[in-house]
Amino acid sequence: MSSVYDWKQLEQEIGSVLESNKDYRGIIEGVRPLLQKLLTHEELIPAAYQEPLLNKYAQYLLYKPDNEAFSVIAFIWGAGQTAPVHDHLVWGLVGLYRGSVIEKRFKREDHGVSAEPRYSIREVSEVKADKGDITFVYPPDYDIHGVSNPFDDIAITVHIYGTDIGKQERHIHDVQTGTYRDVVTKHDNPVPIYS
Ligand SMILES: [Fe+2]
Repeated sequence: MSSVYDWKQLEQEIGSVLESNKDYRGIIEGVRPLLQKLLTHEELIPAAYQEPLLNKYAQYLLYKPDNEAFSVIAFIWGAGQTAPVHDHLVWGLVGLYRGSVIEKRFKREDHGVSAEPRYSIREVSEVKADKGDITFVYPPDYDIHGVSNPFDDIAITVHIYGTDIGKQERHIHDVQTGTYRDVVTKHDNPVPIYS
């Protein structure tokens, strides 16, 4: 698809952020203004991709470079749709493109391999993110969260992660039992919207 955005320029800009920052916090702060700019593009997400799926939130890959150093994804959250508590194991930023979501953040406290449960997850904050807001994740301490759209209107979030998140092996956590299961959340589109 012809592009409303200069993805090659974004590739260069993120590349230079990654070259000059070796810590996650520096990467987050370097990529934040690039996502802020991306969120202002009214035609970034084609109308056909802005409709929610019936059974779950939609996850559409917008763009990734050949080296998969990052990926840009749009998530479409229908009213009432939610993502379970999960980690990412990579840095990432979440920007509100349309509507609002609630993000709950959690911290993991390990009790040792022989303990039952082996760890517990404590909720540490809850924020409402509105259009233009940006939040972030990075391992290990800022990596676990849950996202939901309890509102009546569709919400759309645009994420930038430090890998192709559609291939990333990560975890969904059960807050009640202190257990997790492995997960790979594939994109709902087989090919990126932009290439
Ligand atoms: Fe997430």
